[in-house]
Amino acid sequence: MTPTVAAFPAARFRRARKSPALRALVRENSLGVDDLIWPVFVRDGEGIEEPVPSMPGVMRRSVDRIAQAAVEAQALGIPAICLFPYTDAALKTEDCAEAWSPDNLSNRAIRAIKAAAPDIAVMTDVALDPYNINGHDGYVVDGEIVNDETVEALVKMTLAQAEAGADIIGPSDMMDGRIGAMRQALEAAGHRNVLILSYAAKYASAFYGPFRDAVGASGALTGDKKTYQMDPGNSDEALRLIQRDLSEGADMVMIKPGLAYLDICHRVKQSFGAPTYAYQVSGEYAMIKAAAQNGWIDGDKVMLESLLAFKRAGCDGILTYFAPDVARILQG
Ligand code: PBG
Repeated sequence: MTPTVAAFPAARFRRARKSPALRALVRENSLGVDDLIWPVFVRDGEGIEEPVPSMPGVMRRSVDRIAQAAVEAQALGIPAICLFPYTDAALKTEDCAEAWSPDNLSNRAIRAIKAAAPDIAVMTDVALDPYNINGHDGYVVDGEIVNDETVEALVKMTLAQAEAGADIIGPSDMMDGRIGAMRQALEAAGHRNVLILSYAAKYASAFYGPFRDAVGASGALTGDKKTYQMDPGNSDEALRLIQRDLSEGADMVMIKPGLAYLDICHRVKQSFGAPTYAYQVSGEYAMIKAAAQNGWIDGDKVMLESLLAFKRAGCDGILTYFAPDVARILQG
């Protein structure tokens, strides 16, 4: 059967898919170790690596082990590590004072990492939930999560983290006005070069479930976070939040969760051209792990494909619990 000339396809896209070399040549986006921020969980004690059941492969580490993990991450070329404390229930109070204690878990971990792995950037989380008796990111007064009083506490927390040596402050609380307040306080205290990566578009999401187990906040949380985190139906609001946070002094912005919000990542990058990050959150991680453990998907391939999707959407980087696994694969 000889087709007539008119039957030939006008363009043969398959030509450039013929070999790995040609596919590499025409690939528009790629994932690199430079794109990774590794979130880790810190707990008390020494020499401890305790698995988080709902996040297979993820550990809560004592400060000494966190420092060791940071050394390994630095050797793998991962540019940044992000700390989340698993705080002892006895230290959770109504006033959340542990949040700005210079010797809280997170601040001790910052100092330990700076001493052991000085070249990796240290990012922190700013929100009251690990220290709050009711599991909320802000103070609760008569059932309301109060904004301005919370911002004052977040500023104290920020200054303690900067004092301990944090490179990047990551407010995940979604209170209004916190970026401006934190930026002013940092400037006034002489921390002019501390970056703020604002969790600017953070949705009230069911994908955070395993994280709340990991930091021991799931049992504590009363109600939900819908009065401060975004409604999943909204998109324009994300742009307004990003604009607001950039104008208040954020250096970088984040969209969270990740894969279900790629449209937001794309709009944000297109609109502002600012350093834009996505958080591939605990629930996304757990879903990939669970399906892989059942043999239903190829875990490594899905991991890499999902992370590449963030790059294609326009993100400059991704917070992902997979960071060391990805780095090892990318380094061959
Ligand atoms: C809380 C915070 C959360 C996450 C990061 N910081 C949970 C929440 O808002 O309830 C979630 C991260 C994840 O799910 O991996 N300030």
